[in-house]
Amino acid sequence: MRRSATFLEVLLILAVISEASWANKEHLHCKRTRKGVSRPHSVTITEFGAVGDGVTLNTKAFQNAIFYLHSFADKGGAQLFVPAGRWLTGSFSLISHLTLSLDKDAVIIGSKNPSDWPIIEPLPSYGRGRELPGGRHQSLINGSNLTDVIITGCNGTIDGQGSVWWEWFNNHTLDYTRPHLVELINSNGLIISNLTFVNSPFWAIHPVYCSQVLIHNVTVLAPLDSPNTDGIDPDSSSNVCIEDCYISTGDDLIVIKSGWDEYGISFAHPSTNISIRQITGQTGSGAGIAFGSEMSGGISEVQAEGIYIFNSKHGIRIKTSPGRGGYVTNIHISDVIMKDVDIAIRIEGNYGEHPDDNYDPNALPFISRITMKDIVGTNISLAGLLEGIPGDNFSNICMSNIILSGRSSSSSSGPAWKCSDVEGYSYMVSPEPCEQLNQDIPEDHSRVCYLYEVSLQQQHYSEPVISIANWLVAPE
Ligand SMILES: *[C@@H]1O[C@H](CO)[C@@H](O)[C@H](O)[C@H]1NC(C)=O
Ligand SMILES: *[C@@H]1O[C@H](CO)[C@@H](O)[C@H](O)[C@H]1NC(C)=O
Ligand SMILES: *[C@@H]1O[C@H](CO)[C@@H](O)[C@H](O)[C@H]1NC(C)=O
Ligand SMILES: *[C@@H]1O[C@H](CO)[C@@H](O)[C@H](O)[C@H]1NC(C)=O
Ligand SMILES: *[C@@H]1O[C@H](CO)[C@@H](O)[C@H](O)[C@H]1NC(C)=O
Ligand SMILES: *[C@@H]1O[C@H](CO)[C@@H](O)[C@H](O)[C@H]1NC(C)=O
Ligand SMILES: *[C@@H]1O[C@H](CO)[C@@H](O)[C@H](O)[C@H]1NC(C)=O
Ligand SMILES: *[C@@H]1O[C@H](CO)[C@@H](O)[C@H](O)[C@H]1NC(C)=O
Ligand SMILES: *[C@@H]1O[C@H](CO)[C@@H](O)[C@H](O)[C@H]1NC(C)=O
Repeated sequence: MRRSATFLEVLLILAVISEASWANKEHLHCKRTRKGVSRPHSVTITEFGAVGDGVTLNTKAFQNAIFYLHSFADKGGAQLFVPAGRWLTGSFSLISHLTLSLDKDAVIIGSKNPSDWPIIEPLPSYGRGRELPGGRHQSLINGSNLTDVIITGCNGTIDGQGSVWWEWFNNHTLDYTRPHLVELINSNGLIISNLTFVNSPFWAIHPVYCSQVLIHNVTVLAPLDSPNTDGIDPDSSSNVCIEDCYISTGDDLIVIKSGWDEYGISFAHPSTNISIRQITGQTGSGAGIAFGSEMSGGISEVQAEGIYIFNSKHGIRIKTSPGRGGYVTNIHISDVIMKDVDIAIRIEGNYGEHPDDNYDPNALPFISRITMKDIVGTNISLAGLLEGIPGDNFSNICMSNIILSGRSSSSSSGPAWKCSDVEGYSYMVSPEPCEQLNQDIPEDHSRVCYLYEVSLQQQHYSEPVISIANWLVAPE
């Protein structure tokens, strides 16, 4: 017995569920690492000759300070404090048991000279730089094989001065792939918190082959038309928590990745156990929450909830292609508000973009058990554009309690769904989804739908309607 929901019903259900989940659920991967660590030893960057005038290049000072702090690693670690000022620098590398702490008026500024960002090896799961063959520029702040690293501050700023890099990208004069602001490789026990990241040349925060990562209370900003300025990209990483962030950039706000085509398939390092919650933001060309397109090592066990996306191209997006192999499975996205979003939900089986001609076109991705529930969208132009791969249906796409209204309130049919090569279930979705999702969610839904825990019939409709209004207020 299928029935479609009225707007009010969905709002009521959404409010009740939202309230329950935000109040009671402590996300698994957010629990353990929440507390900051205090370090017994602290130095200030000025002790190493740094000058915070925005002009002096301080790369050596950062390198020397961090080299000096090596000797405290086995004594509880140390803190490097960056006081108020404008600290111009090229790339520098962190060490284990280190806290990099910024004053609220400290700004670490990336040099505009590309030679201050050395060329490093490509990642093994990518086989080459993401945008150009060969190596890539090292990120502004880098670390490999580390444990127990904290990058924090009272909302201090890390500024990549990305505009020159975007111009080089736009006029095709780059020699190597652009750098990130922060990249931590093969590291464990990471906290990035209480900071603002602005104008990254490329993706802003990139933990790759990492575990036990907490990214909390950060702001990531870049112009909406800046190229590939993703916010946070967990890549082949596990046990990651991303909470309480505001992200406004040119590309995906949060995107989970796991390597590229034949390189990602053979490296075989998945992204798993990822919790994302209370994220607000807007993106020029990307999505609020995205998966791929590099997903060849697999992506699974991802929960995202409490997401508010406004003025954006896409809300939720899965990107893949023949040649990727890998999987995206056991994904649960709930409590989402979208406002002024072009395409609310997009699943794309033919994204393209391959590292070289050696990818295997028969390596088809497995996309299944994707649950999306409790979603309200207003001023949406396309509700869903769900395109699997011919001969490789994307399956067990489960949608419930979703109401999307269109650009013009006079059109009663609402925004359209367009589907091909997908199969799934839906319950109380408005407007009515495409026929490929038209099956009712079965009784034993957990067999097909990931974590579809709450039976809607059992909800208490009398509880007060609260909480979603909070997400409708855009931050200043
Ligand atoms: C972030 O700031 C809050 C509030 O000042 C503080 O409680 C928390 O410990 C900080 N996080 C870290 C890792 O320093
Ligand atoms: C990154 O940082 C580490 C130190 O953590 C350093 O040894 C390494 O050379 C840097 N570059 C790369 C590509 O890892
Ligand atoms: C990190 O560890 C890997 C594997 O153990 C090793 O190959 C690599 O050289 C190390 N990198 C650095 C920068 O220490
Ligand atoms: C977030 O960071 C700001 C600025 O550092 C701080 O005032 C605020 O208390 C932090 N919030 C939390 C929840 O840690
Ligand atoms: C941190 O600074 C950014 C940029 O100045 C600002 O937009 C944001 O609201 C601040 N965050 C907090 C928690 O104070
Ligand atoms: C490309 O952009 C850079 C940075 O703005 C500029 O210096 C350079 O002259 C441009 N090159 C071309 C060919 O337009
Ligand atoms: C993911 O979480 C589950 C449940 O907590 C745990 O058993 C598993 O080891 C985790 N996976 C990884 C790769 O850490
Ligand atoms: C709908 O969203 C578009 C951009 O996404 C915006 O230009 C337009 O003003 C919005 N319409 C209303 C009625 O808010
Ligand atoms: C693929 O899904 C469609 C519904 O979208 C279904 O009709 C078709 O039988 C499925 N194909 C396979 C091979 O399962």
